[in-house]
Amino acid sequence: MSGCDRWGRDMHVIAVMNYKGGVGKTTLTANLGAEVAARGHRVLLIDLDPQANLTFSLYSVEQWREELRKDTTIMRWYEGEAPGSEVELHDLVVTPPLVNEQLADSGGQLDLISSHLKLIDIDLRLAARLGGGTTLTEAKRKFLDLHGCLARALRHPEFQKYDLVLIDCAPNFGLVTKTAIVASDHVLVPAKADYLSTLGIQYLVGNCDELVAEYNDYVNHGSSGGSIGQIETRFLGVVFTMVKIYAGKPIGTQQYYMEDVRTNAEMTVLRSVMRDSPRHFGDAGENGVPAVLRAPVTDDVAVEFRRLTTEILDGIQAGSR
Ligand SMILES: Nc1ncnc2c1ncn2[C@@H]1O[C@H](COP(=O)(O)OP(=O)(O)OP(=O)(O)O)[C@@H](O)[C@H]1O
Ligand SMILES: [Mg+2]
Repeated sequence: MSGCDRWGRDMHVIAVMNYKGGVGKTTLTANLGAEVAARGHRVLLIDLDPQANLTFSLYSVEQWREELRKDTTIMRWYEGEAPGSEVELHDLVVTPPLVNEQLADSGGQLDLISSHLKLIDIDLRLAARLGGGTTLTEAKRKFLDLHGCLARALRHPEFQKYDLVLIDCAPNFGLVTKTAIVASDHVLVPAKADYLSTLGIQYLVGNCDELVAEYNDYVNHGSSGGSIGQIETRFLGVVFTMVKIYAGKPIGTQQYYMEDVRTNAEMTVLRSVMRDSPRHFGDAGENGVPAVLRAPVTDDVAVEFRRLTTEILDGIQAGSR
């Protein structure tokens, strides 16, 4: 897939998630979004992590404080009486200047809904809202309302101009993350090829499947209050990140864990990997432009990353047939 042709169907939404912290979720999200935009597409990034690393990779902390913090972060949308009661989601979209200057000739655009450090308080408040139903029907309606809130908001016509929405999730399975899963048609799981990072993958797949099954079960049994109908969330697969390449191959210990996930996790493992390259990916947050757009076109790591992007886009198209 290349060039500026539209994909000929509705926008795709991918949640980038792993319970494990520091596995490269944000770096992958920023670079994937930038590369897809550079191919002439309209991409929206949603930062759902209170650490706000994705936001700070596209805006300086000072810019965020002055221009975004008060009115233009995802926290404003989740807080209040109910998600979306204070502000429309599409009113929070901003266009980070530096990266979009770089994208000017491509015909693509990279937009962002920024995060806020206080998003960390929102999970508990949302969870409290799930309680208090007096009947089973009411409890199910609340469940659907709350878990489906982001999915419903993304159905607004304002978002139809996007080809791809990438949601950078926090390393947890709290309510905010769950709203991202329900809103996504695909889940991408970045993982380091080591014991601790691969340990949780099966658990993660199980929890996501359970959430989707519960949601659809409630929809099936008529608790449709504000719901968006059945959801279909598919795993695009595991992307190994920070892979140390030696003599053209991943080093032995990493190969072992990659093989282990391929054999045991019952989910796709992408052929392409994101190699460990502190020179390219170690400074997220300082330049306002993701590494894949800063590197020379012939740079090996950028070439590899473009291959990974193509594999992910092919996976989306295969999944949507
Ligand atoms: N391929 C890579 N090569 C070298 N360094 C990398 C690579 N990918 C990410 N990093 C660095 O590793 C650190 C963690 O990456 P990142 O923030 O993307 O992970 P994360 O999974 O989003 O973390 P968190 O769970 O805290 O949100 C960052 O300092 C980042 O710059
Ligand atoms: Mg992150």
